[in-house]
Amino acid sequence: PYLNSLLSQDCETPQLNPVIEPLSWMLGTWLSDPPGDGTFPTMKPFQYLEEVHISHVGQPMLNFSFNAFHPDTRKPMHRECGFIRLKPDTNKVAFISAQNTGLVEVEEGEVNGQELSIASHSIARISFAKKPHVEQITRKFRLNSDGKLEQTVSMATTTQPMTQHLHITYKKV
Ligand code: HEM
Repeated sequence: PYLNSLLSQDCETPQLNPVIEPLSWMLGTWLSDPPGDGTFPTMKPFQYLEEVHISHVGQPMLNFSFNAFHPDTRKPMHRECGFIRLKPDTNKVAFISAQNTGLVEVEEGEVNGQELSIASHSIARISFAKKPHVEQITRKFRLNSDGKLEQTVSMATTTQPMTQHLHITYKKV
């Protein structure tokens, strides 16, 4: 997805910036396996497929995209992309994401071993965003002992307290 031909180093494998070494377990292309589970008190439980790309170009940050699809029709659904930064010499992480729903968010938190826990720090949205609005988001990523990546997302909206919205595991491809 990235046109890296302008990079001065060989574009296939720029050297990992040591700042992001604590997050290197997130790197790769990942596919949901099994399909993800969507939940929320206001909606019927649903499943989704998701393709994730997490890469770097030698900078002290990760680049990511999360692209969800309907499990039967394969129609594109939720999409987001952004960056994950680490404060040098700390385990403090910032997660910056733009979503196709018109939401832009910054989350902050910590990486501890192969687990990243973050919570929304600021959320902005387009003026005509669908209601109810999300007010808070938390996410947890972790690399499991079987080599699978797991993501859990909870949110609070203007009508519901903090509740799980998504849980998914991905296999590296
Ligand atoms: C509904 C937020 C990711 C699928 C919603 C709602 C909100 C929301 C606020 C409305 C809740 C309500 O009506 O009470 C978010 C946020 C996400 C996210 C902040 C990421 C951080 C995803 C992903 C999928 C998804 C990855 C996968 C397909 C859905 C579906 C609904 C929904 C199917 C119900 C129908 C709809 O309102 O479109 N989401 N969502 N969401 N979300 Fe998410």
